[in-house]
Amino acid sequence: MKNVAVLGTGYVGLVSGTCFAEIGNTVYCVDIDKEKIDILNSGKLPIYEPGLDALVKKNVDAGRLFFTTDFDDAVKKSDIIFICVGTPPRENGEADLSYVENAARRIAEVSTTPKIVVEKSTVPVETGARIRQVLEQYNPHNVKFSVVSNPEFLREGTAVEDFLKPDRVVIGTDDLEARRQLQELYAPLNCKILFTDIKSSEIIKHASNSFLATKISFINAVANICEKTGADIEMVAEGMGLDRRIGRNFLNAGLGYGGFCFPKDVDAFINISRKIGYDFRLLQEVQNINRERREMFVEKVGEALWILKGKKIGVLGLAFKPNTDDMRFAPSETIINYLQKQGARVRAFDPAAMARAKKVLNGIEYCDSAMEVVKDAEALLILTEWDEFKGLDLDKVKSEMKNPLIIDGRNLFDPVQMKEKGFRYVCLGRNCN
Ligand code: UGA
Repeated sequence: MKNVAVLGTGYVGLVSGTCFAEIGNTVYCVDIDKEKIDILNSGKLPIYEPGLDALVKKNVDAGRLFFTTDFDDAVKKSDIIFICVGTPPRENGEADLSYVENAARRIAEVSTTPKIVVEKSTVPVETGARIRQVLEQYNPHNVKFSVVSNPEFLREGTAVEDFLKPDRVVIGTDDLEARRQLQELYAPLNCKILFTDIKSSEIIKHASNSFLATKISFINAVANICEKTGADIEMVAEGMGLDRRIGRNFLNAGLGYGGFCFPKDVDAFINISRKIGYDFRLLQEVQNINRERREMFVEKVGEALWILKGKKIGVLGLAFKPNTDDMRFAPSETIINYLQKQGARVRAFDPAAMARAKKVLNGIEYCDSAMEVVKDAEALLILTEWDEFKGLDLDKVKSEMKNPLIIDGRNLFDPVQMKEKGFRYVCLGRNCN
């Protein structure tokens, strides 16, 4: 069992640190944000992530998981140090790596024994080489540092399960001892471990997210064709997905990808490519198609309602996807802003993201339940595919609405059934008439 420091308690850091503790290691999770550390030490979580609270409590109680602002102490006590600090996008789309540099520099300054320094934050290719440079440059105690790239592939909403049962773990390093240590650390997960050089590992992360984003934009482009021809995107996706080379995952047409990772990482990959002399035009088109999804959706709302001014529009779902409270790059923000500009009266509900939504969306009426949103609505928009919305009593919904119009950005319902129930149902890439 190992002593591990995790620098940064964002999604990746908090979930990784907790899960490393869960598989038996002693873990020090560090953050400069004292408020965050206080929240964690009071037994609460700064994020909504199903299953994580119980796991944190279990491991804190077992004396294996610590939350601290004391960077130096955590680093000194640990042999393996994960850099999980933020790499937010700068205005030009490149990642801001100053937090990564600061972390590496401080590790170098305070370490007096050998350390394995692992970059887990999503970073551009060649960041590992920069980290090594910083570690060597600011090394007053002449300590041996090994550098490893170990990207994380967990998703918000299923983060714990993704971490503990991954499809693969990627370990990029040219240091044999570091490789052995990381292999031991991950051994309890019993999963496929791929060993690579550092640069390949860094590219695997950006290429994976960009590929998944491409898959989503591809199916959304096909949805446009289905819509124009009267074909059904759900059937097309199923038929394509049955080919094991393609697979059904990430073929859900909808409002396009959001969240903090895909938009930022596709942008970063385009920028990295441009910097080294390759114009990644495919990814630029992926971005364009993604942006058009939201534009197309609001056009549908306009088409269905004609005049938006003064209309009472109900919105179900605000988070960028279900099972998270994350509002970053959520389609709901763009769509609601547009509706408000047109003078619509928006009422909304989300099972988890209300508190965060209130910070970014003003001037809308927040409701306590889906049925409250439905009441007297002249149109109901579905923007996030929470299970709870799939299970709504549609007869009741119809009787409560002023005008039984549903515009569904996530294709939650069967168009034939909706018609039978007396709804005017507008969906994406399917024949809804
Ligand atoms: C994504 C990746 O899936 C993770 O592997 C990766 O670790 C993470 O980014 C990251 O880099 O940190 P996440 O952003 O949590 O995870 O969410 P996803 O479940 O991948 O969904 C991303 C977006 O794609 C959402 O807006 C979702 O609604 C959209 N999506 C997904 C679709 O529009 N259609 C689909 O078929 C699937």
